[in-house]
Amino acid sequence: MIDFRSDTVTKPSPEMLEAMMKAEVGDDVLGEDTTANLLQEKVAALLEKEAALFVPSGTMANAVAIRVWAEPGDEVIIHKLSHTYLYETASAAALCGVQFCLMDGAGGILDPKDVSDAVHDPEKDHFPRTRMIFIENTHNIAGGSVYPVEVVKELSEVAKEKGVVLHMDGARLFNACAALGVKPREYTRYVDSLSICFSKGLGAPVGSAIAGSRDFIKRAHRFRKMFGGGMRQIGYLAAAALYALDHNLQRLPEDHTNARLLAEAISELDCFDVDLDAVQTNMVFFDVVADDLDAASVIGMLLEEGVLVGSITRKRIRAVTHLDISRQDVLQAIEVFRKLFSKTAA
Ligand SMILES: Cc1ncc(COP(=O)(O)O)c(C=O)c1O
Repeated sequence: MIDFRSDTVTKPSPEMLEAMMKAEVGDDVLGEDTTANLLQEKVAALLEKEAALFVPSGTMANAVAIRVWAEPGDEVIIHKLSHTYLYETASAAALCGVQFCLMDGAGGILDPKDVSDAVHDPEKDHFPRTRMIFIENTHNIAGGSVYPVEVVKELSEVAKEKGVVLHMDGARLFNACAALGVKPREYTRYVDSLSICFSKGLGAPVGSAIAGSRDFIKRAHRFRKMFGGGMRQIGYLAAAALYALDHNLQRLPEDHTNARLLAEAISELDCFDVDLDAVQTNMVFFDVVADDLDAASVIGMLLEEGVLVGSITRKRIRAVTHLDISRQDVLQAIEVFRKLFSKTAA
């Protein structure tokens, strides 16, 4: 099987497993897990923030960050296609009691002017208090799109002017950095807090981190515990994340090259439509334009030939490249696409 459903499907390599087995561990709820502590220091240094905290998932990272910054009844400005709004089981509402102000924005990118207009006047008691601007980089459902650094800077200016905070869901921040050839700092200097994921493009089995000021992380520590994310001998998992940072970060451009190769091949088939400009990182979104096909039938046909992709809508499909997909796999998948769909009329 060549599995393009997500970059979360990777399995730990023997070398990563070995690093996990050798980890020194302790009770992390008591702050005694030396490997987790090392990971947190390393992440803080990499992101150039004062402190970082290991959390079990990207979903918990986002929920903890929202809960730190906002009180029940407050409002968070967020794109209407963000992962946190669509796919995190309404954790912001259920665990944090906040309301989202959903915004449009081409490619998943918020418009600083629109955001500025959307921040409520805190003096007016009819409105919820706007506390947070929440951005996602890369933006998953917009196609793995990269946030322009300039826009993040402008959003940070809006946040400062309006007295709210800017948070980045950076589940795939390193893909954005690889695409632009910049260091994380180029983004992180503009955000008050952010999350990163080890279990996506970096290929670790578990884990995310949040980062920000020491005070932010102190408060996040409390909410991580409240949300059930206080874990004990997590050094085994932290070791996988450390291994991923040391070995899998530099290779992300390969995934981007593979995604482009796949996208270009799919774009040559009449029954699909691909916006090649939107293919900026490791994701390929394509629309089924043939009347006699839909996402489900295409997925079924590909599956029979050993190629797995995921549906986004009835006519939209997503293929994601990652650590466990080689260039050879992509070439093989392209052959399958051509065999199945070359002759299908648009
Ligand atoms: C952009 C983004 N944020 C957050 C998450 C949530 O991560 P997790 O599955 O670790 O909860 C995902 C998951 O794919 C994601 O794509």
